[in-house]
Amino acid sequence: MKLWGGRFSGEIDEHANAFHSSIGFDKKLYKHDIKGSIAYAQMLGKQGIISNEDAKAIIKSLEQILEDIEKGVLKIDETAEDIHTFVEAELISRIGEAGKRLHTGRSRNDQVALDMRMYVKEEIDNLCSQLVQLLRAFLDTAKSHTSTIMPGFTHLQKAQPITLAHHVLAYFQMFKRDYLRLQDCRKRTDEMPLGSGALASTSYPLDREFLREKLGFAVITENSLDAVSDRDFCIEFISCMSMIMMHLSRFCEELIIWSTDAFNFISISDAYATGSSIMPQKKNPDMAELIKGKTGRVYGSLIGILSMMKSLPLAYNKDMQEDKEAVFDSAGTVRASLQVFCGMFESLQYNIENMKNSALGGYTNATDAADWLVKKGLAFREAHEVSGRLVLLAIEKKVRLEELSLEEIKKVSQIFDDTFYDAISIERCVEVRSLEGGPSKGALEKAIKNAEVFLSKLSQ
Ligand code: ARG
Repeated sequence: MKLWGGRFSGEIDEHANAFHSSIGFDKKLYKHDIKGSIAYAQMLGKQGIISNEDAKAIIKSLEQILEDIEKGVLKIDETAEDIHTFVEAELISRIGEAGKRLHTGRSRNDQVALDMRMYVKEEIDNLCSQLVQLLRAFLDTAKSHTSTIMPGFTHLQKAQPITLAHHVLAYFQMFKRDYLRLQDCRKRTDEMPLGSGALASTSYPLDREFLREKLGFAVITENSLDAVSDRDFCIEFISCMSMIMMHLSRFCEELIIWSTDAFNFISISDAYATGSSIMPQKKNPDMAELIKGKTGRVYGSLIGILSMMKSLPLAYNKDMQEDKEAVFDSAGTVRASLQVFCGMFESLQYNIENMKNSALGGYTNATDAADWLVKKGLAFREAHEVSGRLVLLAIEKKVRLEELSLEEIKKVSQIFDDTFYDAISIERCVEVRSLEGGPSKGALEKAIKNAEVFLSKLSQ
């Protein structure tokens, strides 16, 4: 059934019809659409725009339609134009005349804007609870590894020793910001657009405040043209999700590197790895790789929707129907990625010995050697030079800095004495980095407390 047949004398081309139909994907919005229509019918009845009997009949039938779809009794007709048309046509086929009054003062333009806002808010809530679960997992790991020493890297070259807790808490910060970004995006999504009509609002005395309240929105939209043609909440949402994927992809890449034979810092659980069809020994980190791969897909949706919205004249244009797959696909991708990542992370096994041994190699204490010289009165630039010469000597002798004898190091500089060795022990190198935000146990205890406070505020 068409909702706009009157003005037409000819039939739409079969391919054109299939081309513009969005039901294949917007059927996802059936619940939001029906809930919106129920509130709208209540309001129409309350305002005397339609009779109370008609309002009641509409509401009852819409509730039944929702139940029937949910039970699988009513199949969504894939030949309908979109979900809004399908629900309205079904309503009319069930209750006739009264059903035809539902769309009074409303347009699919404000209807779809409403449905999308409801959907995005719901998905933000889902993603935020997944993020909280992930933050909890990071915190648990951090708590058990404040003394687990590992190398920190720059350029993927060993740089300075840190702790595993410090590394994991770095991701805590990233995903905390992702959480806050989504919450912020939610505020701008939380605007109720019904009453905007097709573009210029309507002459019927609608009660927008009532609709806002019923549908659980914070405020009503302030400009009807903007309300029906704005999709920046979708763009912002996908942008927030792109950031989550970017962060996930970084940690995934690290897990892949850490699980290589060369590093051997972690083992990924069998539950999150796969084998090779030819090489019997292989255990591949496919989940981590796929999450990285899917990051590109979410970025693609972001670029797609930004490009689609570019240069669109006000107000609604059918171009905007393309918003849906971008939003749906990226939300589904991010949810699945977070789910798998969280499980994979929680089941990681850490090879603590290897991490520490790795930090012991690569001269990660060379900065501390320079810092010891600074304490002895050398200017840092000079100390850097001396420590560099020590490294060169140790490389030649194929030993660690702390394995050079006092005699050997005194040849590099007379300033050295045997207190030097304690100052460059790996434990000490971590211990002395006790500034807020650093890797020492004391600093981490503070960071862990802050993280706990953040999470406890969320659950209040
Ligand atoms: N399926 C359409 C969309 O998602 C609904 C709005 C249709 N409005 C219109 N004026 N054709 O954009």
